[in-house]
Amino acid sequence: MSSGEGNIFRRAWNGFVDFFDERFDMRRVLREFADHEVPAHVNWLYCFGGITLLCLIVQVLTGILLAFYYEPTIDTAYDSILNIMDNVPFGVFLRSLHAWTANIMILMVILHMLRVFFHAAYRPPRELNWMTGVILFFITITFGFSGYLLPMNQLSFWATKVGSEIALEMPLIGTQIHAFLLGGEKISDATLTRFYAIHVVILPVTITILLGLHFLMVRKQGIADPL
Ligand code: HEM
Repeated sequence: MSSGEGNIFRRAWNGFVDFFDERFDMRRVLREFADHEVPAHVNWLYCFGGITLLCLIVQVLTGILLAFYYEPTIDTAYDSILNIMDNVPFGVFLRSLHAWTANIMILMVILHMLRVFFHAAYRPPRELNWMTGVILFFITITFGFSGYLLPMNQLSFWATKVGSEIALEMPLIGTQIHAFLLGGEKISDATLTRFYAIHVVILPVTITILLGLHFLMVRKQGIADPL
C-alpha cells in the first residue's frame, strides 16, 4: 500500500473519530477513564479480577448465542440442547465454551478474592468494595447453580433437587424459600422458567450494576498499597 493510501485511511479514521468527539467529547472521557498509572508494586497476582471480567464477557456473548436456540420447558429443554450440539454450526464449541468458562470464572473469582484477602486490600476505605465483592461472589455462584438446571439432563435434575432441598433445612422460612425457588413443591416447568429468568435477566442486570460500582470504587480509591 502506498503512503498516499495510508493517508486516506488515516484521514477517514480521524474524520470518523472527530465526528463523535465533537458530539460526545469522548477523547477527554476516554483519557480520564483509561489514562491511569498502574502502581509499581502491581504484579501478576492482580490479574485475576480482570480475568474474571473477561470470563463474564465470554459468558454473556456465548449465552446470547445459546439463547437463540435454547427452549426453556421441561419437554423441550434437553432436545434443544441436543439440537445445539448436533445441528447448530459451532454448537458444541459454543456450549463447551459457555460451560468451561463458567467453571473458570468461579475459579478466577476465588483467586481474586484470595489475592485481595492476603493483601488485606479489604481495609478502609475499601471495606464497601469488599462487601460489594462478597455479593459479586454469590452472584457468580448463583449463575452456576441456575445454569446447571437448564439442560434438564439427569445431572441437572438431581443437582437442583439436592441444592434446593438445602433451603428446607433453614428454620422457619425454609419451606417457603424452597417453594419460591421451585415455583411449587417439585421441579416443574415453573422451576425452569424461574431459573431461566434468574440466569438470563436478574443476575446479568444485578452483576452489571454491582460491577459498575466495583470498578468506580477501584478507580476512585486506587489499588491498595502493599502491606
Ligand atoms: C464478578 C466478579 C469480580 C470482578 C469481575 C472483579 C474485578 C476486579 C478488578 C478488575 C479489580 C482491580 C484489579 C484487581 O485488584 O484485581 C478489582 C479490585 C477489587 N476487588 Fe474485585 N472483582 C470481582 C469480585 C470480587 C470479590 C468476590 C471480592 C471480594 C469479596 C472483590 C474485592 C475487590 C477489592 C477489595 C478490590 C480492590 C483491591 C485493591 O485495591 O487492591 N472483588 N476487582
